Amino acid sequence: MTLKNLPVIFLAVLCAAACSEDKILTSPDGDIAVGQHMSEDGIPVLDISFRGEKILAVTAAGLEAEETELSRGFEVERIRFSRKHETWTRPWGENKTVEDRHREMAVTLKNSGNTEMILRIRAFDDGIGFRYEYSTDLDSLTVTAENTRFGFVRDGISWSIPGNFETYELDTRELPLDAVETANTPFTFKTGDVYGSIHEAALYDFPEMNLYRCDSLAFRTELAPRPDGTKAVIPGKFSTPWRTVQIAGAAIGLINSSIVLNLNEPCVLEDVSWIRPQKYIGVWWGMHLGTQTWTCDERHGATTENALKHIDFAAENNIDGVLFEGWNAGWENWGGSQHFDYCRPYPDFDLEKIAAYAKEKGVSLWSHNETGGSIFEYEAVLDSAFSTYRRFGINTLKTGYAGGMPDNILHHSQRAVQHYQKVVEKAAEYRLMLDVHEPIKETGTSRTWPNMMTREGAKGMEWNAWSKGNSSDYLCTIPFVRLLSGPIDYTPGIFDIYYERAAADPGRQEWNGDNSQCFIKTTLARQIANWVILYSPLQMACDLIENYEGHPAFQFFRDFDADCEWSEALAGEPGDYIVVARRAADRYFLGAGTNHQARTVRVPLDFLERGKTYVAEIYADDPDAPVVVQPDGTSAPDKRSYRISVIRTDAADTLDIAMSPDGGQAVVFKPL
Ligand code: NOJ
Ligand code: CA
Repeated sequence: MTLKNLPVIFLAVLCAAACSEDKILTSPDGDIAVGQHMSEDGIPVLDISFRGEKILAVTAAGLEAEETELSRGFEVERIRFSRKHETWTRPWGENKTVEDRHREMAVTLKNSGNTEMILRIRAFDDGIGFRYEYSTDLDSLTVTAENTRFGFVRDGISWSIPGNFETYELDTRELPLDAVETANTPFTFKTGDVYGSIHEAALYDFPEMNLYRCDSLAFRTELAPRPDGTKAVIPGKFSTPWRTVQIAGAAIGLINSSIVLNLNEPCVLEDVSWIRPQKYIGVWWGMHLGTQTWTCDERHGATTENALKHIDFAAENNIDGVLFEGWNAGWENWGGSQHFDYCRPYPDFDLEKIAAYAKEKGVSLWSHNETGGSIFEYEAVLDSAFSTYRRFGINTLKTGYAGGMPDNILHHSQRAVQHYQKVVEKAAEYRLMLDVHEPIKETGTSRTWPNMMTREGAKGMEWNAWSKGNSSDYLCTIPFVRLLSGPIDYTPGIFDIYYERAAADPGRQEWNGDNSQCFIKTTLARQIANWVILYSPLQMACDLIENYEGHPAFQFFRDFDADCEWSEALAGEPGDYIVVARRAADRYFLGAGTNHQARTVRVPLDFLERGKTYVAEIYADDPDAPVVVQPDGTSAPDKRSYRISVIRTDAADTLDIAMSPDGGQAVVFKPL
């Protein structure tokens, strides 16, 4: 822990006995109130209201264990109130400076089984968090359930993916609250005029939580099971992850919230100078199209020649890093024995030469480790693999878990959570930044471990290569759902919208028989806007570099800076549209996207620095795009059509963002 992370102000203001008037906790701005009382069977209940209206009753019934009673029969011993107001900084983030202003109520409870539980509740202006801190006489506890229950006061609508303990690569749904059977988190909702989202923070050594319906408007927590059906084995003294409810009067308030980060511990790394955002390209999309292979055959993508070509392209186009997939031996075992060799390059990938060339060109070299889910095998080689990477100057690692884990371990279970964290800690030891695919969901742990840069954990770009893929409605939903948890490696930016370059390739036919449904479902301007909207400190331009060469619109990515300092969602509604602005150094970037409907959104440019004039380069949809027949036989305005315009503007101006159906707009503001 570094000195700069210590609270600026920390005041324990009140330590009171448990009397009824002490049982209301309010947010610093007074909008959110949490009323705490005990049920008849000795279970704490939290009534959450926003601007005077109750929205949720949370039964904070803690855990259930084989060994002792952890859930009920509690009596309040004392209640302690405190408050905190500090700002802290991070090496990267949508906002590098974060304000943590909250009030806390810590309720100490005891039951006849001699279990002490502190129910710690924090109220921020943007939501609440609570967790259970257990202290028993036992060495360990076998957790069989968590009994937290979220009961909505009235119906509403929600946006989420279904509950699942193996994958997050699922379509989002918009459903009335009472039609949701299971959901993963973030679980975003609107009830009355209030927006909210249920998630968790600081998930360590514990399974992830899903929400399962238990009454028409109530959900209980369901934890990812261990292979024997129990949920977790924890020490007798244990704090659970935080359960969080973001609350806001407008949907964009959920995006502009930082409670998930604030409920994590400060950075544990002394030196973070080696951790830095990057733009990257990779030998990647060709494999998903089928025109290249991960295995070492005649279509092998990660060859020395291709690697050098990519390094040149990165160096010439202001791109920091290059990822190579399929560079290491073992891909022929993917989907089979899942045995990979994490140190041995394929014979046509001259790692030594490539590493030297990357160094000469000032390009950062990424390694890729697909594990196929073989977590035990991977854990056993972490030291040897990571020390090899350091030797070659590799500073970034993309990992993947595409395949079942051994012994029926689920991807989101306690053992898997421990595995993912083990890799983060090992990577930090070797100064490697991480991009994790098929990950455990982000719960703000990148505050504590900032080398955990980004992760997939959603139906990303790859799905467009070999399935119907992602709609513009989906892309307008995930900023309000998946992205509330943290950065996403969606891998945006396909310019060859209809895959014309790949269409005639025999590899494509072989890999994915009927390709008619597979193409990008949004406009080119939206592909560009996604670089801004879908925040990741490691941001990829994922198309084949041939599709960027000579393309005027690629100038946006050259200008783009992944190292932003400030961000704000300016406008949006889940599933409908989104407008985000970010600042990096003295430039501002704006990204806007709409769903299947054309839309014009007017935004004030008052986020720009006052008194300065900016040149705004606007990448927009073409309102006169000719109608074309798409690969699936439907006719639509040509998604490849776009317009680039340049205007002078300043903070007193407004911008009318006109978007075609499935469209978007991206703007870079450069100070004059
Ligand atoms: C799935 C990942 O999401 C993708 O990016 C990667 O190319 C493949 N697995 C192979 O590792
Ligand atoms: Ca994936």
